[in-house]
Amino acid sequence: MSTDTATAAASGASATERFHSDKSPFAAVADTSPERVDRLARKVIEALQQTVREEKVSYDEYNALKAWLINVGHDGEWPLFLDVWLEHVVEEVATEHREGSKGTIEGPYYVPGAPELGSVGTIEMREGEAGTPLVWTGAVTSVDGSPLAGALVELWHADADGFYSQFAPGIPEWNLRGNFRTDDQGRFEIHTIQPAPYQIPTDGSCGKLIAAAGWHAWRPAHLHVKVSAPGHELLTAQLYFPGDAHNDDDIASAVKPELLLDPKPQDDGSVTVDYGFVLDPER
Ligand code: DHB
Ligand code: FE
Repeated sequence: MSTDTATAAASGASATERFHSDKSPFAAVADTSPERVDRLARKVIEALQQTVREEKVSYDEYNALKAWLINVGHDGEWPLFLDVWLEHVVEEVATEHREGSKGTIEGPYYVPGAPELGSVGTIEMREGEAGTPLVWTGAVTSVDGSPLAGALVELWHADADGFYSQFAPGIPEWNLRGNFRTDDQGRFEIHTIQPAPYQIPTDGSCGKLIAAAGWHAWRPAHLHVKVSAPGHELLTAQLYFPGDAHNDDDIASAVKPELLLDPKPQDDGSVTVDYGFVLDPER
């Protein structure tokens, strides 16, 4: 199929472009003191210097690192690199105060503004979209147990080949991306397909590192969500399927036991899951 032509260059460059167009990352830290910048920059630089000393890094290794870092930028793979190897720690720190549902990393492939599909709806998919049909019911509540009506559940996920719309070529714009709103009881019912395990692009610089280090590039199959309601903290999460070979060695270290679904196979070949979210009130 047309997605065979998906390349790291294509998805990496799209992820970089998307990041620049959706966020103004510097504005949010405009008030950061020089002391804070000094402290953070110095710690990172010192960690690198320490590695060179301890491991007696050679000039050849230093030059290879220099070339590789330059290539990560050329390939547009900084979003991929950072979201795989660093974001999970940032997420852990950012959400450690929470009493509600566990979240996990956003990853590089979120796009705001997907089609609004109501409280019961079917996500946009192609005619004959491959994959097991999945019916997902759930509720959104506040930590005190009260249902949150009108909460927004933004869902995005890969197709049965592990590709995301808008980041791999040949897939309709909003394929497998949709926004759902909870009803008066805070409930939703989403019809979609089960995504496949996903391999981060292996033909660019991140792939080169993975191959050179003898790692693997797999993430377990996952559904991405952002759940939001007025007066509550935004929850960004991913949900996983039990039995996936990569739940225990996700390259992005984003799996948590609380994020595992309990899918129930149905006689018609579909699968149902019930999974809801508890949001923390804003502090
Ligand atoms: C990456 C891709 C994902 O789909 C994800 O959820 C996290 C990270 C990546 O390629 O970096
Ligand atoms: Fe993903």
